[in-house]
Amino acid sequence: MLTLDPKDLKTAQVHQYLLHAVAPRPIAFASTIDADGNVNVSPFSFFNVFSANPPVVIFSPARSGRTGHTKNTLDNVRVVPEVVINIVNYDLVQQVSLASTEYPKGVNEFVKAGLTEEPSLKVKPPRVKESPVQLECVVKDIVELGTQGGAGNLVIAEVVMIHVSENILDPETNMIDQHKIDVVGRLGGDWYSRNSGASLFKVAKPLTTIGIGVDQLPAYVRNSKVLTGNHLGQLGNVERLPDEEAVLHYRNSGAINEAFEMYGQHREKLEEHLHHIAARLLDEGNVHEAWLVLMATH
Ligand SMILES: Cc1cc2nc3c(=O)[nH]c(=O)nc-3n(C[C@H](O)[C@H](O)[C@H](O)COP(=O)(O)O)c2cc1C
Repeated sequence: MLTLDPKDLKTAQVHQYLLHAVAPRPIAFASTIDADGNVNVSPFSFFNVFSANPPVVIFSPARSGRTGHTKNTLDNVRVVPEVVINIVNYDLVQQVSLASTEYPKGVNEFVKAGLTEEPSLKVKPPRVKESPVQLECVVKDIVELGTQGGAGNLVIAEVVMIHVSENILDPETNMIDQHKIDVVGRLGGDWYSRNSGASLFKVAKPLTTIGIGVDQLPAYVRNSKVLTGNHLGQLGNVERLPDEEAVLHYRNSGAINEAFEMYGQHREKLEEHLHHIAARLLDEGNVHEAWLVLMATH
């Protein structure tokens, strides 16, 4: 394990370690205006949502690591405390990157990046028409985290209007379809990630029941050489183990007869084989049957 004290590193190195590790980060494509009404739009991946009631997002335009200067976006929200956070999807990402060029103050990145201004309803900065979700926000507070190059500035913004493109909605529920929005994340260096297709997966929430926990799994399951930490997490997220009757019924159903025929005399091999079957079932999300398989010899 490489163990580092940030005090011993250059800011650029701390930045690199943190940005590769704390990833992927969503991207706020923030449009703001200055006192004269000049429009600015720039991306910030030090960004997230922190509250739903009131709805609050925070992003952080840092002081330049090279010059220590504040960014135009920060200067703008200090004089006109309003911002539109435009969410970045895959179709937008190259233009967003282009808009991050450090153009001089007063240059409109909408023009440089070839994007379309759409008037907002409750705030003065325009929205990015091409963005799938646009959040009109009022800036409530700005928290300066330092005064040196690389220091962040938390722009705490309350969402006062939400616009969602119909193209990304589930037509039945009018909610956002996670497959359709295709949001991108920023990682370290030049790396980005896409959130669609095979990279999307679900994890069942431990909401309605209190899971027994990994500590309560029988030792032969907890110490399995086949099952991974993810498998143990799934197995621990059940309220109780299947009862004897259910296990016996499953054992007699013939579903795992082949395993018993192959390894019946070799208990260790039989168990290992059953654990492989359980692992496959867990990967398919079938926790209940995985438990029945695991308990078939106990
Ligand atoms: C995807 C992406 C994410 C970025 N995230 C941040 C960030 O979180 N904080 C920051 O200070 N700069 C970030 N940058 C760099 C700024 O966008 C860049 O410095 C920009 O020129 C600032 O514009 P402004 O001076 O007009 O506000 C990011 C750049 C890209 C491409």
